[in-house]
Amino acid sequence: MTDPEPGYRPGMPLTRSLDDSTVVITGASSGIGAATAYALARRGAAVALAARSGAALDQVAQRCRELGGQALAVPTDVTDMASMQRLADRTAAEFGRIDAWVNNAAVSAVGLFDEIPVAEFRRVLEVNLLGAVHGIRAALPHLGAAGGGVLVNNASVLAEVAMPYQSAYNATKHGIRGLADTVRQELRVTGRGHISICTILPATIDTPFFRHAANHSGRELLPPPPVYPPEVVAETIVRMLRRPRREAYAGGAARLIGLQWRLAPALAERTLGWYAHRTQFGPAARADSTGNVFHADADAHRNGGWQGRRRQLVRMTAAFGLAAAGTAVGTMAAFSRRSRLER
Ligand SMILES: NC(=O)c1ccc[n+]([C@@H]2O[C@H](COP(=O)([O-])OP(=O)(O)OC[C@H]3O[C@@H](n4cnc5c(N)ncnc54)[C@H](OP(=O)(O)O)[C@@H]3O)[C@@H](O)[C@H]2O)c1
Repeated sequence: MTDPEPGYRPGMPLTRSLDDSTVVITGASSGIGAATAYALARRGAAVALAARSGAALDQVAQRCRELGGQALAVPTDVTDMASMQRLADRTAAEFGRIDAWVNNAAVSAVGLFDEIPVAEFRRVLEVNLLGAVHGIRAALPHLGAAGGGVLVNNASVLAEVAMPYQSAYNATKHGIRGLADTVRQELRVTGRGHISICTILPATIDTPFFRHAANHSGRELLPPPPVYPPEVVAETIVRMLRRPRREAYAGGAARLIGLQWRLAPALAERTLGWYAHRTQFGPAARADSTGNVFHADADAHRNGGWQGRRRQLVRMTAAFGLAAAGTAVGTMAAFSRRSRLER
C-alpha cells in the first residue's frame, strides 16, 4: 500500500479535453449507452462500444463516425472478465490510451421475488454487479497509465430506493453504489485519487429496457412515469467526465424520490411500493419470458417508444406531494409528542 499523493484533489476530471479522449462504454448497442456514444462522438471523442450484439454495435459505431467521433465496436460479454480485458486492451491498442470508462450494461428480471427463477436472479447479479466489477478491474490500470481518468457507473435511483417486482435489479444497483464508494475510498488512501469514480442515479428513462427485461409478472411491462429521454442521462455522463462528482441524479423525479427516501424512508417505501405496483404493468397478459437476460437482443435503438409516458409528471408529483405532506405531518406529530413527554 502507498501513501496518498501530495497535492491530491478530489474529483479529478479527464486529463485532456473530450475531443482528445478515449471513452469505453458498455451496453452501447441500445438505449442510454448508444445515446452516450452519440453525445461523446458529437464532441469529437473516440469511443469503444461494447455489448453482445455485434451488428447493433456496428450501426452505433457508424453513426458515431458520422457525428464526428472515432469509434471501435468490440463485441463483449460483461460477465466474462477475459472478454472485458480484451475490450480494454483492444481499445488502448487502437486509440493509444483510455481516459474514461462507463459501466452501463444491465438487464432485469421483473416479477415477485419468489417467482423469479434463481438462474435468472443469478444472471442479473452477474451482468449488472459482476459486470461493473469486471469493468472497474479492466479500466483501472489503463486510467492509471493515462495519468488519471474518470470511471462512471450508470446505476439507477433504484440504487438508493427500492421498487417492488425488481428485487434482483434493485440488489445489483444498491451493490454498485457500495462498490463505487469503496473503490473511491481505496483509490484515495492509496494515492490514486487522480482516478475519479462516479455513480449516476437516473429516473425512468425512455429506452428499450422494459421490452428487453425478463418478465414473470404475467402482465405487459410499462415504465413507471415520468419517463425522461436517454439524452438526459447521456448529458449527465458528459458533465461527470468534465467535472466528476461522487454521484448525480439524472431526471428531476429521481432527485425528488431520493429526497423523500432520505427524509422519511418508511413512508417513501410505502408510497413508492404502491406507485410502482400501480404503474409498472399494463392490462395485456404476457407469457413468462427470459428477455435479454441470457441472450443479446439489441437493435441500436436509443428510445423505447414511451414518449406518451414522458409527461405524466402530474400523477407522480401528486403521489409524492401527498407523501411529502404526510412526512411533514408525521414529523410535526413526533416533535409535539416528544415535547409533551419532556414537559
Ligand atoms: N431505462 C431506464 O428506465 C433506466 C433507469 C435507470 C437506470 N438505467 C440503467 O441504464 C443502463 C442502460 O440501460 P438502458 O435503459 O439503455 O437499457 P437497454 O436499452 O436494454 O440497454 C442495455 C444494454 O446492456 C447490454 N447488455 C446486456 N447484457 C449484457 C452483457 N452480458 N454483456 C454486455 N452487454 C450487455 C445490452 O446489449 P446486448 O443485448 O447487445 O448485450 C444493451 O446494450 C442500465 O445500467 C440500466 O440499469 C436505466
